[in-house]
Amino acid sequence: MQFTTATLLSVVSALAAAAPAPQADPAPAPVRFFAILALQSGSSVHLNNWQASKGGILAGIDPVAQNATCDDGSLAPMATFNVRVDDGAMFLLEDKLEQRLWVDRGMGQGIVRYSANGGTQPSRQAEITGFEVVNDELLFKGQPFQACPNGEGLGHTIFVNGTVNPAGRQDCTAFKAQLIYDETPTSCNYSN
Ligand SMILES: *[C@@H]1O[C@H](CO)[C@@H](O)[C@H](O)[C@H]1NC(C)=O
Ligand SMILES: *[C@@H]1O[C@H](CO)[C@@H](O)[C@H](O)[C@H]1NC(C)=O
Repeated sequence: MQFTTATLLSVVSALAAAAPAPQADPAPAPVRFFAILALQSGSSVHLNNWQASKGGILAGIDPVAQNATCDDGSLAPMATFNVRVDDGAMFLLEDKLEQRLWVDRGMGQGIVRYSANGGTQPSRQAEITGFEVVNDELLFKGQPFQACPNGEGLGHTIFVNGTVNPAGRQDCTAFKAQLIYDETPTSCNYSN
């Protein structure tokens, strides 16, 4: 499924209108696929989608720069993910490479990246589990995420929140990583 700005806006207004429902105990959770929408009114990352390019997780770059190869030939304006809920590992939706996300809260100061089998490997301090979905928000070990702007037209780099000015970056904003479920996701290989 392709998302348009109109669908995203209707999702956002539906979210604003809906009161959070109390959670029952749903076990075992089915695998569900989703895009991630950054919500933080008044910030430059607001309503940008998470994207995947060259091992990095970004929001707000040109889909062409994402350079994904999708089964349906589309440009993948946003990346599609799933979390393996049982152990908190998180994957990009694709068939062969097992492109999995990781977080480096050591030298990387919370940077979120991804690696594929046979591709660039995670850094030495990488954590590959700890992603969790709470009320349709993605967290990492209880923390939300922050977005650091890369300059005009270059989107934002995504970090786990918690370090002020991670990696010397300026003007970073914590935001809500809102899941947008996709029942008919497109499988893509993202650039390594
Ligand atoms: C996209 O990927 C292809 C090969 O995977 C590469 O040749 C090309 O330079 C890349 N384009 C961009 C804009 O990075
Ligand atoms: C993000 O991290 C900073 C620094 O630790 C903290 O002050 C802020 O409250 C955090 N924001 C959220 C939304 O958790």
